[in-house]
Amino acid sequence: MFKPFVKFLCAMALAKAILGQNIFIASPVVHTNVVAGSNITIQLGEINPFDMRDFGLLMGIQACTSASACPDVSHGLGQLLYSGPFTPAWHEGDKYNYQNFTVTVPSLPSGPVEFGVAHFFFVEASFNIASLEFTNITLNIVSSAEDGY
Ligand SMILES: *[C@@H]1O[C@H](CO)[C@@H](O)[C@H](O)[C@H]1NC(C)=O
Ligand SMILES: *[C@@H]1O[C@H](CO)[C@@H](O)[C@H](O)[C@H]1NC(C)=O
Ligand SMILES: *[C@@H]1O[C@H](CO)[C@@H](O)[C@H](O)[C@H]1NC(C)=O
Repeated sequence: MFKPFVKFLCAMALAKAILGQNIFIASPVVHTNVVAGSNITIQLGEINPFDMRDFGLLMGIQACTSASACPDVSHGLGQLLYSGPFTPAWHEGDKYNYQNFTVTVPSLPSGPVEFGVAHFFFVEASFNIASLEFTNITLNIVSSAEDGY
């Protein structure tokens, strides 16, 4: 009777770790100026390198009403910039697994935008956990390279 309970607790701890945040936007940093129409590199890192089965990643962008009032990306990602697999890898000299993505910044009006990521994945454990996770970052759209980076 004791053993199944311990097994249950371990599965719960694993589930908690998995269902927590597993991805993060390593770059660009929050409030980076990005030029409308230009290509930027999004570096998406992985916090817990689980042996997960990836079911796909979506990245989108949408305008904020102000820098402090951005939409909740779990309610909608806005204009889609990427949809496809997430296959993070470890690269020599780096502290975490990541994947770089090149996305084109749409021609939105200058001002704050919410860049959001949704990731659906599956971890084969005793509980077979399917999970959808989100992360987001506020960027600032500018119209020309003089204001950008
Ligand atoms: C952005 O990347 C796309 C696809 O790689 C390319 O076709 C396009 O020319 C690039 N645009 C700019 C402004 O560099
Ligand atoms: C990913 O992008 C970053 C920033 O642009 C760059 O420093 C790094 O070398 C890239 N990594 C790979 C594997 O291309
Ligand atoms: C979006 O980012 C903010 C700031 O990092 C965070 O507080 C919020 O929980 C994030 N929302 C989602 C859905 O991840």
